[in-house]
Amino acid sequence: MANPALLVLYGSQTGTAQDTAQRIARQARRRRLQARVLPLDSYNVANLISETLVVFVCATTGQGDPPDNMKHFWRFLFKKSLPVGSLSRLDCAVLGLGDSSYPKFNFVAKKLYKRLIQLGASLLLPVGLADDQHDLGSDAVIDPWLTSFWKKVLALHPSLASVIPLRDGEPLPPTYTFHFQDDMKEKTQDKQWILTEQPVPSQSHPFSARMVSNSRVTDVSHFQDVRLIEFDITGSSIEFSAGDVVMMHPCNSPDDIQRFCQLLRLDPEASFTLRPNDNTAVPVRLPQPCTIRTLVEIYLDIAAVPRRSFFELLATFSSNELEREKLAEFSSAGGQEDLLSYCNRPRRTALEVLADFPHTTAELKPDYLLDLFPEIQPRSFSIASSLQAHPDRLQILVAVVRYKTKLYTPRRGLCSTWLASLDPTQGEVCVPLWVKKGSLKFPKENDTPVIMVGPGTGVAPFRSALQERIAEGKTANVLFFGCRSESKDFYFRSEWEERMRAGHLVLFTAFSRDQEEKVYVQHRVRENAKLLWDMIANKNACFYIAGNAKQMPTSVCDALKEVFQQEGDMSTEEAQEMLETMERLGRFQSETWS
Ligand code: 2AM
Repeated sequence: MANPALLVLYGSQTGTAQDTAQRIARQARRRRLQARVLPLDSYNVANLISETLVVFVCATTGQGDPPDNMKHFWRFLFKKSLPVGSLSRLDCAVLGLGDSSYPKFNFVAKKLYKRLIQLGASLLLPVGLADDQHDLGSDAVIDPWLTSFWKKVLALHPSLASVIPLRDGEPLPPTYTFHFQDDMKEKTQDKQWILTEQPVPSQSHPFSARMVSNSRVTDVSHFQDVRLIEFDITGSSIEFSAGDVVMMHPCNSPDDIQRFCQLLRLDPEASFTLRPNDNTAVPVRLPQPCTIRTLVEIYLDIAAVPRRSFFELLATFSSNELEREKLAEFSSAGGQEDLLSYCNRPRRTALEVLADFPHTTAELKPDYLLDLFPEIQPRSFSIASSLQAHPDRLQILVAVVRYKTKLYTPRRGLCSTWLASLDPTQGEVCVPLWVKKGSLKFPKENDTPVIMVGPGTGVAPFRSALQERIAEGKTANVLFFGCRSESKDFYFRSEWEERMRAGHLVLFTAFSRDQEEKVYVQHRVRENAKLLWDMIANKNACFYIAGNAKQMPTSVCDALKEVFQQEGDMSTEEAQEMLETMERLGRFQSETWS
């Protein structure tokens, strides 16, 4: 049998599954096997019937859904019309990436595994279920799974056993070659990410929205900078309803770009075109030709905590013995605990790691940049406004993320810091964005009341819902809002007060730090048991939670169940059952983020 070509297909939301897929392809190439890596939705599924060896690497997102870049594939694969046995020529394996703190752990990979069997494919080994919650990260499952996978492949294709793999430490050829030329002008006009004439803006064709305002909504003395940012979406054909989210790709800061270029001894203004070395496509977000500055600014994720594959690859380039040994240790199975305490726990960025390995960094060839650094992933924000209240406008509420770890410099969120730095009063600022359906759905019926619990920036989707509902004459609205202090971070106060005066809103506030004892939204939920019970039991109200996913959602659920027990005279089990029934009926919904 001829040696197979390996196809690695992935569905990735945050880039981890993509990174793993690329790692599998590198392992194949080290065995001198041809390997292609593609997001599932960029692959023509109909061709699966003629593939011989495929690995599927699939993440599962929050509610057990497939990632965005495999949604079409997912729909196709579960079509009833697909004949059973149609994949009988295919040898394949499924590796799932998930998080066991979510109820539908690795749901997508498990379901895919079963479906492939149903379609007649041979599954080389049981589905791999990597878990983000594992002490040593998902590699604790992935590494042994990959070892078994390669054993199975060798058993199936014995001729592969005689192939001499690349030596450890010998670098693979890069995916792309950079062709530098002196007089190439970057073609800004062609940049896909500023295309504006597409009918419905999407990830591949975002709409370049003008930022109208960017204002701080917390007091300057407050520890946290929270921004209300407004975009002009006139002419974009963007439509959204309450609960929807807006997506955008953040950029690296000018300081980080400069530091990066210094460390790698690159001229930021140098212009190049990318030539793929296999049949990989040139990334659509990069103009051709492109400058090093643009590449670093919009594409290379140098501010993220690097993954293990980064160290693996970096080790192969280093001619400095000390640095190479350390890098190799970080990428070895035995070095994972060290890697966690060096990188993951203190949230050290790839750029900071480069600075710690200056010899290796100075030797880095541009050709490897796209193999070393993942693409900056898009970020999502709950939309905080409604088109009824603000036609042609889209507003978001952004907490600027900044925190300390054991490292000297504070950690900063890439997207929120970037957004906060944009100042539309100093000249036109445009941000490429697109809109996605969110998970929160609000009732269509006019007389169904809603109870919304949104502390902090969790209030964003509820502000949108309130604007929309009130414009539609839906006036039975209860909001629980929590913040630290009435005088510092009680944003939208005057807006809520106006709505209360008009009789369109009942508001309960919990100012956690304005008194000795902490007061949180869940306390207010308990205190208002009678009102809530009446709304839920007698008026069919829907209950919503949005916000930071630490303890808050669980505590609010507990408070709600206590309300059921107390006012509905229920046992613990009955209260739990009632909550589950509400969830099934869409009368209890939550959207949480970290
Ligand atoms: P804290 O920071 O004083 O603890 C918005 O962030 C509000 O949510 C703040 O008042 C914050 O209070 C509060 N908060 C923090 N943890 C919470 C939890 N587990 N449940 C509910 N509210 C919480």
